[in-house]
Amino acid sequence: MQKEKKLFITSALPYANGALHLGHILEHTQSDIWARIHRSIGRKVRYLCAEDAHGAPIMLRAEKEGVTPEEFVAGTREEHWQILQGFNISYDHYHTTHSPENQEMVNRIYNGLNANGHIETEVVEQLFDTEKNMFLADRFVKGECPKCGTADQYGDNCENCAATYNATELKNPRSVISGGTPIIKESLHYFVNLRNFEDMLKDWMNQGALQEQVINKLQEWFEMGLQSWDISRDAPYFGFKIPETEDKYFYVWLDAPVGYLGSLKYYCEENNEDLEDWIAPNANTEMVHFIGKDILYFHSLFWPAMLYGSGIKVPDSVYVHGFITVNGKKMSKSRGTFINASTYLKHLQPDYLRYYYASKLSENIVDIDLNLEDFVAKVNSDLVGKIVNIASRCAGFISKKFDSTLSSEMNNSELYQQFMDSSDEILQLFKERKYSKAIKIVMSLADSANQYISDMEPWQAIKDESKKELVHRVCSDGINLFRVLMSWLSAVVPDTAQKTEEFLNISFANWHDINQPLFNHTINKFKPLITRIEMSSVESIIEDSKQDLESLEQETGNLSEHLTNDPINETINFDDFAKVDLRVVKIINAEHVDGADKLLQLTLDLGGEKRNVFAGIKSAYKPEDLIGKNTVMVANLAPRKMRFGVSEGMVLAAGPGGEDIFILNPDNGAEPGMRVK
Ligand code: MSP
Ligand code: ZN
Repeated sequence: MQKEKKLFITSALPYANGALHLGHILEHTQSDIWARIHRSIGRKVRYLCAEDAHGAPIMLRAEKEGVTPEEFVAGTREEHWQILQGFNISYDHYHTTHSPENQEMVNRIYNGLNANGHIETEVVEQLFDTEKNMFLADRFVKGECPKCGTADQYGDNCENCAATYNATELKNPRSVISGGTPIIKESLHYFVNLRNFEDMLKDWMNQGALQEQVINKLQEWFEMGLQSWDISRDAPYFGFKIPETEDKYFYVWLDAPVGYLGSLKYYCEENNEDLEDWIAPNANTEMVHFIGKDILYFHSLFWPAMLYGSGIKVPDSVYVHGFITVNGKKMSKSRGTFINASTYLKHLQPDYLRYYYASKLSENIVDIDLNLEDFVAKVNSDLVGKIVNIASRCAGFISKKFDSTLSSEMNNSELYQQFMDSSDEILQLFKERKYSKAIKIVMSLADSANQYISDMEPWQAIKDESKKELVHRVCSDGINLFRVLMSWLSAVVPDTAQKTEEFLNISFANWHDINQPLFNHTINKFKPLITRIEMSSVESIIEDSKQDLESLEQETGNLSEHLTNDPINETINFDDFAKVDLRVVKIINAEHVDGADKLLQLTLDLGGEKRNVFAGIKSAYKPEDLIGKNTVMVANLAPRKMRFGVSEGMVLAAGPGGEDIFILNPDNGAEPGMRVK
């Protein structure tokens, strides 16, 4: 018999240019539960992820922050990995796409595609920013729609009339980066000829492992006709150079999915495993990607084509989930429902959210609503009120009256058997990603267990000495049933599961251990395993999220190449403006910042109060020329933690950049502390 396949599981690689939010956590929770379930049934699992580090937006963002892109992505990788661990996401390794392993895999795939005749080149015309000296991606150009004339439209489509076009067709285009008028310039681009893979992709689609909605989408794309895929970008670009070119880089979306393999390669090298054993076309492996619906095109067309075309195993499944909404609406920064994962962790335990997500997740691509009131009610009622309640009702008797030892036989073995009869079905539902259905069954069995304890009333029976043995068996039944329920939920709520393991002196590592109930088994003193969520914690999260918004807006760089919100042209109303506290300040000290090539550290006198501010003006000013001058600052900006320290405000400056940045310099009559109106 062939040995069961090894499992290689991934989630989409979080983009380094943004904070992790509760939408990301949905995906990592979904894949983590799946990985844990498969580990618990003895499958060999490698569950991997990485930081998606490349691309023009990250390059520009790093520039803005005055650090190198390498430094920038190393910092976000660390932050993201901390947060993922905070949610108990059990990756075997969290890598980065900006790594030698990934570069090797990228070259291997590209060279394979090239050798097999799948790479083409073509000269394309593109808008070019002459001030920044760079070609402009569609998201970095705005202008008037060539069809309907609406102003302020991006280089790919019009929000007003939905026309799609080339950026070169925009009327009165301007660069979002420098504000200047771009010119049209030619450049040689590299393409993967996707049509070569049409038959292979259709076979792959029909192999039966894709969701129905995914198959429908693929069919639509086949009907529209497959296009060649532009995989090159011109310098300057933060990414990997295309072999045998001078100034061409791989588009971030080429090296991003390869990052799955880069992470695996690193893992294999660290752990003495053979990478080819995982990725050869005939490897005895199952390769499974969890992704959100917005990145399906990349994972269901380009990715299998790239792998197949370079002689590597294609994915066995791509499991697609929907998006998170909060209180029925798209996450909103101003409502405070755009919740960063780190903000959540400041106030609440990961298990609450993991449980809520699991109770809603299905195998389908549907959006999932995080209704905050329902969240609190459901977690409190299910986890605290039903599951842990069983233990808390029984544990006291066992420890006080029966020397902390469970009985040697059951009182109600039928009920235990009823639980066991559901175990395979629950396991199967988890394997099929029907988590909400699995949880429903678990909860209805929890109801049965609670009902049984209520019916037996051990708290009454204990008063009657002749019923002492009965009480022992009933409470031991309760503990055994609780153990089974927690074993089923252990992949969902790992913290609570771990506390339960300590309480009961057991391990949940093996799904099937529960087939054997605990008899004559010593347990520890019961401590509350999980506490109720208070609505006030959720309110604090919302409040904090409104504040996060302020620091987020300063970061401005949220121009991911596939992100559609526009941070540049949001208007503010008068009330917003009135909130800005502009003050005259005297620059009493200015110095260079170690390791930052754009920043100066300023000490500002605000009429008695001193502020520390980092300003990206090093290219235009020498520190010594600034000391003693007056300028204008935003005094009520929320302090922002940067890699070099906390910045407590912002100074106002204007200009296109480089040497041409002009810090505002009010007349000498102005005194530090004066309000600017
Ligand atoms: N870097 C790319 C993925 C490259 S994979 C080779 C990317 N990054 S992302 O940070 O924007 O998104 C990462 C994952 O989070 C994607 O699968 C995306 O669908 C998912 N989500 C982002 N916002 C989401 C919600 N609001 N809700 C649920 N998932 C969402 O795309
Ligand atoms: Zn239009």
